[in-house]
Amino acid sequence: MSRTQPAFYSPIHILLHWVIAALILFQLIFGESMGDLEHALRDGGVPDASTAFLGNAHIWVGIAVLALTVVRLLVRLAFGVPSPLPTSRIQELAAKAVHGLLYLGLLLAPITGLLAWYGGIHTAEEIHEVFKPFFIVLTALHVLGALYHHVALKDGTMMRMISSRN
Ligand code: HEM
Ligand code: HEM
Repeated sequence: MSRTQPAFYSPIHILLHWVIAALILFQLIFGESMGDLEHALRDGGVPDASTAFLGNAHIWVGIAVLALTVVRLLVRLAFGVPSPLPTSRIQELAAKAVHGLLYLGLLLAPITGLLAWYGGIHTAEEIHEVFKPFFIVLTALHVLGALYHHVALKDGTMMRMISSRN
């Protein structure tokens, strides 16, 4: 954490938040192609062009998520993040827990995927499959929380993940 707490998220933190969110959406929508590619190769067959393309994209997008998350955590460490806007203690703790778990998932999903694919570690594959419901549930809670701040509390929480000047 930087020594003085900033009033806003840095522009690079905001950019990384949305790029990583888009990449996670891609992984959730097209993740099954990776399973299809794995099954086709295991059965000694040749995957069709779209399965091969989406399977390879899954690997590269996953590696990008890992690299960008490491950069994002370093940016967080260097520039710090603004303190939460005033709300109840329980909501603050819930937001902190969800953010922490999302960061953990952003690191562990690609790592378990790599261990499953390149290391052939079956347990890693089983853990990797848990990340689909994990991200769906946590992202839903996260987005509902953000919308609650925006629509019900009408505070600036949503805007500060959109622009550094709010
Ligand atoms: C942010 C990163 C990642 C996310 C969110 C993610 C998510 C997913 C999802 C949603 C599935 C489909 C699971 C299902 O159909 O039940 C999947 C399958 C798979 N992913 Fe990833 N993945 C990520 C990164 C990676 C990486 C870097 C690799 C490394 C090669 C990888 C390897 C695999 C494999 C081998 C499967 C097939 C597992 C199976 O269906 O048995 N993933 N992933
Ligand atoms: C439409 C989708 C999304 C919306 C509207 C949204 C909105 C926001 C907002 C407004 C904040 C700032 C919260 C605050 O200042 O207290 C935030 C922070 C955060 N978001 Fe999202 N988000 C979305 C998707 C995602 C996704 C998909 C992920 C990861 C999988 C994610 C991970 C995070 C994390 C880890 C933080 C904490 C940032 C930090 O303090 O370092 N978000 N999000």
